Amino acid sequence: MAALLPSTGAAHAALLGVGAHRPSRVVPNSEIVDAIDSSDEWIQQRSGIKERRFAEDHETVQMMSVAASRAALERAGIEAAQIDCVVVATVSHLLQTPAIAPAIASELGTDHAAAFDISAACAGFCHGVALGSDLVRAGSATHVLVIGVERLSDITDSHDRGTAFIFADGAGAAVVGPSDTPGIGPVVWGSDGEQYDLIRQREDWRDVVGTPEAPGSGLMPHLSMQGNQVFRWAAFEMGKIAQEALDRAGLSIDDLDVFVPHQANMRIIDAMARSMKLPSHVRIARDIAESGNTSAASVPMALERMIAEGEARSGDTALLVAFGAGLAYAAQVVVVP
Ligand SMILES: CC(C)(COP(=O)(O)OP(=O)(O)OC[C@H]1O[C@@H](n2cnc3c(N)ncnc32)[C@H](O)[C@@H]1OP(=O)(O)O)[C@@H](O)C(=O)NCCC(=O)NCCS
Repeated sequence: MAALLPSTGAAHAALLGVGAHRPSRVVPNSEIVDAIDSSDEWIQQRSGIKERRFAEDHETVQMMSVAASRAALERAGIEAAQIDCVVVATVSHLLQTPAIAPAIASELGTDHAAAFDISAACAGFCHGVALGSDLVRAGSATHVLVIGVERLSDITDSHDRGTAFIFADGAGAAVVGPSDTPGIGPVVWGSDGEQYDLIRQREDWRDVVGTPEAPGSGLMPHLSMQGNQVFRWAAFEMGKIAQEALDRAGLSIDDLDVFVPHQANMRIIDAMARSMKLPSHVRIARDIAESGNTSAASVPMALERMIAEGEARSGDTALLVAFGAGLAYAAQVVVVP
């Protein structure tokens, strides 16, 4: 029997460029507090969030993804036609099917790139980077566009005290491509399905619609979260996952320049930094103060801000770690493009 030719790819993969789209409407805590009987002081103390961005009508999941992707492509010096695969991490593209990725790939002007969505909630972008790295090194693609995008304002209950002040909108994107040296370390990822219900869409769509005999609510099934349990899990477990990603990359904590955790809550970020004993020279992403928690978009948006503000420089070693509904998590060390 004839043997198949093996697929062969690049020796190494790296992030080549990062971009973001921040929605135009700035929403301060003062706009949120009345509906949840809260205060600016409480929100800032418990979450570190001062304001967030909500998308305007025209800032759809597709529009924000295309804007972030164009910025990433430009910084990478790559044409859309060179992208072979588009991976979109999101939980707020509100069509069950088709995925949004093919529409984005087409609007960007790729040459019929493979395009699909992944659902790993707030950990989605780091899952996408892991996939992108493996696709490039296996030869399935030369350039992969990884997008994290959310319009969580569509699926957040503005009267829910546990979520209304946290979730927000935005998009971030990165081009993953071939490199002479390793630019994306081994991923450490996993899930804890025993905690499946801690963050979830409240109801199944069938229960929303109901039956002729028992009509459903007909209302958007919003996100629900058991914040306390999520907080404890993230604060205690994610520092260990981050450390494992460093170990697997063959680095020590002193080799690190930048720490970009999922922007879930400033207190979780601080707890992780303490548990990892991050040295003071490591610069920590704190985009949550102005952007809120944008789920799959939070890591690329936070990294983009650090690059734009000169806090992360080309060649720096950055540790990404993300976690969320599922519960799903993923972490890897990358070299800043
Ligand atoms: C949501 C979160 C900020 C809530 O903070 P918390 O300290 O756990 O708050 P609790 O629910 O224990 O409530 C503490 C007190 O604040 C009150 N409270 C709760 N929500 C409030 C709000 N929005 N405004 C004002 N007070 C509020 C409660 O009634 C309670 O009052 P009491 O002590 O008098 O009973 C926190 O749990 C959290 O950040 N969780 C993780 C969120 C996260 O990362 N999610 C995304 C994962 S991808």
